Amino acid sequence: MTSHVLCFLALVVFAPGPRAALASEDLAEYLKTRAAFLKHEDALVDGAGTNLTEDEAAFDHWLGSTVQEMIQQYKKQRLVDRFLPSTYFPRVRALIENTTLYKVLRQMPKGGALHLHVSASFSMTWVVNQGLDLPGCYVFWPNTTSADDPPLGSLAFYNATQEKKAGYFPAKELIQKDKDFPQKLLKLLTVHEEDESLTSAEIWKKFADIFIRVAGFFTYREALEGYFWATMLEFLEDGVTHLEFRVDLFHDQGFLFDLDGREYRGAAALDVYQKQIQKMQVRHPELTVKLIGTSIRMRSPQVIAEDLAFALEVKAQRPDLLVGWDAPGEEDAGHPTLDYARQLLELKKQAKAGLELPLMLHDGESDWSTMNTVDAVLLGAKRLGHGFNIVRHPLLMEKVREDGVAIEVCPISNQVLRYLSDLRIHPGLQMLKMGLPVTISSDDPGIWGARGLSHDFWEVAVAWQLNTRALKTLARNSIAYSGLAPKEKTEALQRWQRNWQSFMARWRESNTLVI
Ligand SMILES: *[C@@H]1O[C@H](CO)[C@@H](O)[C@H](O)[C@H]1NC(C)=O
Ligand SMILES: *[C@@H]1O[C@H](CO)[C@@H](O)[C@H](O)[C@H]1NC(C)=O
Ligand SMILES: *[C@@H]1O[C@H](CO)[C@@H](O)[C@H](O)[C@H]1NC(C)=O
Ligand SMILES: *[C@@H]1O[C@H](CO)[C@@H](O)[C@H](O)[C@H]1NC(C)=O
Ligand SMILES: [Zn+2]
Repeated sequence: MTSHVLCFLALVVFAPGPRAALASEDLAEYLKTRAAFLKHEDALVDGAGTNLTEDEAAFDHWLGSTVQEMIQQYKKQRLVDRFLPSTYFPRVRALIENTTLYKVLRQMPKGGALHLHVSASFSMTWVVNQGLDLPGCYVFWPNTTSADDPPLGSLAFYNATQEKKAGYFPAKELIQKDKDFPQKLLKLLTVHEEDESLTSAEIWKKFADIFIRVAGFFTYREALEGYFWATMLEFLEDGVTHLEFRVDLFHDQGFLFDLDGREYRGAAALDVYQKQIQKMQVRHPELTVKLIGTSIRMRSPQVIAEDLAFALEVKAQRPDLLVGWDAPGEEDAGHPTLDYARQLLELKKQAKAGLELPLMLHDGESDWSTMNTVDAVLLGAKRLGHGFNIVRHPLLMEKVREDGVAIEVCPISNQVLRYLSDLRIHPGLQMLKMGLPVTISSDDPGIWGARGLSHDFWEVAVAWQLNTRALKTLARNSIAYSGLAPKEKTEALQRWQRNWQSFMARWRESNTLVI
């Protein structure tokens, strides 16, 4: 319980005025108390109850009635069981995109996406449409497979003289033989309607296979550059101007390569990203991008320690670009965070000595155990990836609010990975209403066909019946709790604020602004 809430309840219950009103039969008095309560509750969302401007108030009116109309429509048609936010995302993606609300949200300045994985943040159709055309692209597509083989459809790049592994064929040859090959491969790289029947563990297996399939694709520098470039454009078009990507930072593998065998590791690999970012900033000076180095929680604590040490070395070399560290992976299958607590405590000591690599940990993405969430917060994480099970720990929520630990809520990801089906009961709403620094991200949108942040914003706007204050808070939080340096952050906040105001003014002028 936050102190605000306690304080207000005390006022209502114990102060003579409101108490008398509640006890009386005077409905008008009661309605006044009720309205005051709701207003106070709503004010907690942004911590201040900031007043809306006239433009925002007009937008808010439209937003509220649009969402209510949608809800009434679903109820009238007895479609409650097919209410879009309670239906598996791949089934309803096209229906969402067809709404006016989606088109408006795409244009709304949404700030930043703080939780993205670099090899899944943009459509996999890029891989099959542009990627397969790149010289040297091979696909594992044998007639028969055995248990030790990589998953069917694994990609790799080879130069002309290099020896190819058995079962790998030139992509061009495969397309020539079968014009449906790209579609078949795309199916193996994405999640579909029928995956709704899978359990969480099964869908994670499918996910793991997808990441294995594309691993040999995204370690090729040119493929990565093309996809990364397209990703940045995608988010800009979606009204998102700050991006933070989780990128592999293993001490012993996962580097970038050229066809001639040249290798880019650590800082040199980050420079490959940096070059693309700087090129994009020439066209779009409003864009800012940061990277978060990752190990993976399936590795042993000893190996994770080596990865951490390596990440710290890279941090010292590229302090402005690398802004955090993480060990993602399925929580219920990998090492609990406590297994490498010693290593994380060590990191904190180094931070005191001046070399800081903030923890932005994938924790709280489990329906089973919440202990990783407890450990992440107590070990001093600056941000929590997912963090949805924190609502089972009210004291931890209080700490997170006071310490300003942002939560990277990824609603569609949680539904696709089957942690919950109905986004109406996603715990993110409770966090937001209690004034926790919640942000909205899309995690791996390329795998389930979402674009940028708008699908996730649409889902929570409708599922949680959010008002303009809440949307604005989500967008502002995404910059305020980003890994931007203080000066960059101030500038980004000012820029976003201006864009937000101008969006609201344009919206009011055209009064729905659908382009
Ligand atoms: C909002 O406006 C009301 C009056 O219109 C004023 O009393 C209140 O202080 C304002 N709140 C904030 C946070 O500025
Ligand atoms: C999209 O909306 C239009 C107009 O409301 C409607 O005619 C069309 O059938 C819709 N398409 C889908 C896929 O729902
Ligand atoms: C797979 O089958 C096709 C046609 O059936 C054949 O042309 C091709 O050589 C076979 N490839 C391998 C690796 O056996
Ligand atoms: C092909 O790749 C191999 C291994 O990376 C490398 O040793 C060789 O020099 C490359 N050949 C050409 C022509 O680039
Ligand atoms: Zn993630």
